[in-house]
Amino acid sequence: VTEIPEHLLRRSRERRAAAGGGGGDEGGGGGSEAAATPAPAAATPARAAAPAAKAAPAPAAPPKPKTVKPAVLAAQRRTKIPVWALPVLALLPLWAFLYAESLRNPEVKLSGPVAEGEEIFLRACSGCHGAQGQGGAGRQLNGGNVLLTFPGADGFTQQVHFVTNGSAEVLGKVYGDPNRPGGPHTGGSFTGTPMPAQGVNATGASKGSLSDAQVVAVVCYERVVIGGEAAPEECQGGAAAGGHE
Ligand code: HEC
Repeated sequence: VTEIPEHLLRRSRERRAAAGGGGGDEGGGGGSEAAATPAPAAATPARAAAPAAKAAPAPAAPPKPKTVKPAVLAAQRRTKIPVWALPVLALLPLWAFLYAESLRNPEVKLSGPVAEGEEIFLRACSGCHGAQGQGGAGRQLNGGNVLLTFPGADGFTQQVHFVTNGSAEVLGKVYGDPNRPGGPHTGGSFTGTPMPAQGVNATGASKGSLSDAQVVAVVCYERVVIGGEAAPEECQGGAAAGGHE
């Protein structure tokens, strides 16, 4: 085996490296110079091919934008959904909740005589007049009926008197508005049985259990909540004297 001079080996390695091939140390004698020589020759076509390959797609590139479909172009140009849309959508349920609460609150806010009147009405009156005042053994109060019988400020006073004393004292006689639409109401005309007195200060023989203030409170409830009247002065503000039992 002949010794290959060191400088030849180095040159071979350099050429191979230049050709892009791995620079493995080749054993074998004398052939390394010959093996190294074709490498640059092989590399040259490769290098030449590379620009050619690069150049080939280049002319194909410009037509590319023209092939973008009109639908895609339209999608790119149209007004985008604004960024704030998502937070707004996300807050929508919260808004809905707050809105629902704001609708519910006025009812919850029942206070003063009207609130007390609700409690009294459900306990002392709804058995005959219905929980919504829709009527039963007693006359219908809702649907605007109670305000037709007892309209306005005078009506308020007359209704307080009626509830306190019942209708026994007006049997066969008109009570409330004599010009009531649909005809005036007379005592005993509904079922023949008069409404029993409700107030402790009733003028008749029979008396009820409600203080004067409690009668005012329940009349407030009938007119404002059941009747839908704007709360008159008597029905506004703090506690109705008389209190709870
Ligand atoms: C035992 C049943 C009964 C109870 C309890 C009762 N009512 Fe009556 N109410 C009647 C009857 C019956 C009439 C109709 C009276 C008539 O025709 O003489 C009436 C009539 C009325 C009217 C007049 C309605 C109209 O348009 O003519 C009002 C107001 C009224 N009641 C309020 C009350 C209130 C307030 C209470 C509770 C504190 C109450 N009632 C409890 C039976 C009752």
